[in-house]
Amino acid sequence: MQQNRAVKIEFKNFEENSTFRTIHYLGSKLRSLEFIKKTIDEIDPSKKGVCDLFSGSGVVSHYLSGERLIFCSDIQNYSKVICEALLNPISNNFIDNFIPSLKRKEVIEIELKKFKKIINYENQILNGNINNTDKICNFLEDCSIYNFIEEKNKKINKELYKVLSETKKILEKDKKKFIITKYYGGLFFSFKQSIVLDVILNHINNLNEKYKNFLLASLLSTASDLVNTVGKQFAQPIRPRDKNNKPKNGLLNQLKKDRNLDVIFYFEKWFSKYSNIKARNKEHKIFRLDFKKTLEKIDEKIKIVYADPPYTRDHYSRFYHVLETISLFDSPIVSKTKIAGKIKNSRGMYRENRHQSDFCIRSKAPKTFEYLFDKVAKKNKILLLSYSPYDENKKSHPRVVTLNVLKKLAKKYFKFVEVRTLGKFTHNKLNKSSLHLNALDEAEILIICKN
Ligand SMILES: C[S@@+](CC[C@H](N)C(=O)[O-])C[C@H]1O[C@@H](n2cnc3c(N)ncnc32)[C@H](O)[C@@H]1O
Repeated sequence: MQQNRAVKIEFKNFEENSTFRTIHYLGSKLRSLEFIKKTIDEIDPSKKGVCDLFSGSGVVSHYLSGERLIFCSDIQNYSKVICEALLNPISNNFIDNFIPSLKRKEVIEIELKKFKKIINYENQILNGNINNTDKICNFLEDCSIYNFIEEKNKKINKELYKVLSETKKILEKDKKKFIITKYYGGLFFSFKQSIVLDVILNHINNLNEKYKNFLLASLLSTASDLVNTVGKQFAQPIRPRDKNNKPKNGLLNQLKKDRNLDVIFYFEKWFSKYSNIKARNKEHKIFRLDFKKTLEKIDEKIKIVYADPPYTRDHYSRFYHVLETISLFDSPIVSKTKIAGKIKNSRGMYRENRHQSDFCIRSKAPKTFEYLFDKVAKKNKILLLSYSPYDENKKSHPRVVTLNVLKKLAKKYFKFVEVRTLGKFTHNKLNKSSLHLNALDEAEILIICKN
């Protein structure tokens, strides 16, 4: 039997203990929450504050926020929006009336009518009336309105050209109103979905600031559920053809699965989930900052810095740029890239200047970790660092910094450096009935650093 296997944790109790998966998120700590909480409670039974320095989807901050004061921070705006909704929830009649009022005013139907040509065209594809896989592929490859406007000389099928021209004219009347449709319609969402998402987004942005985070977070979670990609991230829209330029098998099913999902149904579901979050009587603080700036803000109320930085060369901004644009409600320039020898807009429609993290760059990562260790030690706080080792079987990307290097660097700044795995911890701490073995064992590591 394999050694060092991990213990499967009963997730039912976690649900009651307020786990909340806000978005489909790579490297989410959802499954390690109890491990993290128990470690924190052990190293600080006095229940002082925790700073979640790389909060991402907000699950860790939320899980700890019932018992401790939380400072949470991330460089990305969508993370701030979600964490505000999780940690500082609001509920009142005005908010409760948001969806009924959208429905009453029939605003969605009015906007959908304007775009009926492109919606009908896509519908014919989705529902099989256009039974021509090449045509489906052409649609997926050429339907971007942003590219249609920018890359003028592109050769496009006549019928599609006509509906795109008409859609472009509607968008030009109000440039800010349909950013999701302009950038991501047909690529990450169906056109119908993107128009409904846009209508909701516009209504949110017309509201008083204090209501925005709650509703925007519901919309971000909705977008994350709907997106039509493999793995529910936003790095690449579906690639319709294989290496030999042949339409992929099962393409239509893959499209139908997500693109027929109803936006309002999902938005209502998320609205109700966020509404059920209980306000905690704590003065949690949420920042959108580089971690270096957040470290400067840490005061005597905070005892532990919990850090879950990225560990591979993949920048998180690549996977969640669509959520960033929705949350910022801006009109970014799309970054360029060389495709088949030609400079084109990036296939994923990435924001130009999206955040590039020093933790993901091999030459910069060790120094960046040293900065983190040095600052936390100087502030006299305990550092709890998450680390997920590299699993070759899963074809995940190698870590930019290895565990051994991290330990060595940490020891330069902290007298006490202890490495714990989820498996080891749960064996020690959980009762026998929950000791189910599975392959998670070393998948989650915590490094405790203190002086
Ligand atoms: C591994 S994820 C955090 C996941 C989070 N613990 C969760 O469970 O959802 C790493 C996060 O670090 C953020 N990040 C990367 N570099 C950063 C920096 N220099 N300052 C602040 N945040 C950064 C990314 O935006 C990303 O959200």
